[in-house]
Amino acid sequence: MTEKREQWGSSLGFILAAAGGAIGLGNIWKFPYVAGQNGGAAFIIIYLIAVMVIGFPVLIAEILVGRYGQLNPVGSYRMISRGSKFWVLFGYLGILTGFIILSYYNVVAGWSLGYVFEAMRNVFSQFTNPSIAANHYEKLVNHPVWIIGFQFLLSLITVLVVYLGVQRGIEKYSKILMPLFFFILLLLVIWGLILDKERASLIFLFKPDWSVVTPRTVLDALGQAFFSLSLGMGAMLTYGSYLHHNDNILKGSFFIALLDTLIAILAGIAIFAGVFAMGLSPEGGPGLVFKVLPAVFAKMPGGYFFGILFFVLLTIAAVTSAISLLEVIASYFVDEKKLPRHIVVLSAGIFTFLLGIPSALSFGIWSDKTLFGLNFFGILDFLSANVMLPIGGLAIALLIGWNFGKEEALAELSKGAGNWVSARISSLFSLSHQAGSKLTIGTFWFYLIKYLAPVIILLVFLNSLGLI
Ligand code: TRP
Repeated sequence: MTEKREQWGSSLGFILAAAGGAIGLGNIWKFPYVAGQNGGAAFIIIYLIAVMVIGFPVLIAEILVGRYGQLNPVGSYRMISRGSKFWVLFGYLGILTGFIILSYYNVVAGWSLGYVFEAMRNVFSQFTNPSIAANHYEKLVNHPVWIIGFQFLLSLITVLVVYLGVQRGIEKYSKILMPLFFFILLLLVIWGLILDKERASLIFLFKPDWSVVTPRTVLDALGQAFFSLSLGMGAMLTYGSYLHHNDNILKGSFFIALLDTLIAILAGIAIFAGVFAMGLSPEGGPGLVFKVLPAVFAKMPGGYFFGILFFVLLTIAAVTSAISLLEVIASYFVDEKKLPRHIVVLSAGIFTFLLGIPSALSFGIWSDKTLFGLNFFGILDFLSANVMLPIGGLAIALLIGWNFGKEEALAELSKGAGNWVSARISSLFSLSHQAGSKLTIGTFWFYLIKYLAPVIILLVFLNSLGLI
């Protein structure tokens, strides 16, 4: 006996859940820092183009495969390739990638939750200079009970939401958490800009410095766009599989990409406004959020309150991403193995928690256990983000472009999309739908997927491996 497969209750629910999956740690600490160090507005402009020419088209393709198959990545790959054994392998790769990313993502997400409690205990007020904040961070991540405890708590929250199902769990909580997230971010941006009287944050982020832009910057921007939209492992595919056949994929993907990008930029403003207004200097990597910001809150008027808000914001971003990762795994075992959802979610939760423990210890007692100079956490991060995601992304572009084919892909994309797909590309600018045999929005998308995306993803892949 199998129950009927669930679907989203509304398209807003889908968009918020998918945006929640995409908006994660990558938006809040990685994007601002990378943008700041790579030419500010110059990087942001390149990033916007990267989202438009690669991120958005591949996002559409992933959601399309899911909606077509109405199944997990393995099942949907099988459906769309008409039973090919070869293409299905990339579905399995997605599930494996899901396990790996979830295991270490929960660790960092756990710190974020842990920092909510540090903020509430008013620990930040002692950080009169950034080195005290940095020492405190080192002390915490070296503490196995603290780090594994919060990793566990975070895994538990993720499991509970996914356990409740697509509508009553993921959709319901996304509809509560995402508006809260937007509201908190807005408060932080406004307060940051009130304090940052010199507008140093805006200058840092928006003053274009083209002199630091190299071909490598472009590839980094493409890689970041790809990672930020959670592409390449079937997360968006899985969420797409809960859509109805007549839901509008173009519209959904557009809002997901827009929200993800907007949030990354707003997070940059909020963070750098605080950092500069308090006279500190920006630092890269995870350190920016966990070492520098607590010192910012120590000095900032209202810092107690805004410190709590910031880490709640970061935790929401991380939890909603972790939920989307766990759902990929859950959907696979439920659809393919016909196992009850409750059992799958609990077992997958326990398994990934255990798999994450070596990653958690990588920052403390196991930090000296390294391979090629990377600790356990570093290895998993490198393998998944730099190897498995690009391979997965390449597969989806090739599958749609070269196997599924143009007629089918455009027919599928047109479902629920009004007459946008057959409208000429020029109508994007005139805001009227001119049908025509010239280049249409649909064919333009298809050519991007068939020719441009594979080449660019391959270049990004080689870049992230350090080969070019
Ligand atoms: N997009 C997430 C972020 O910005 C990270 C991520 C990459 C992800 N791939 C994913 C999250 C797949 C969920 C599912 O932090």
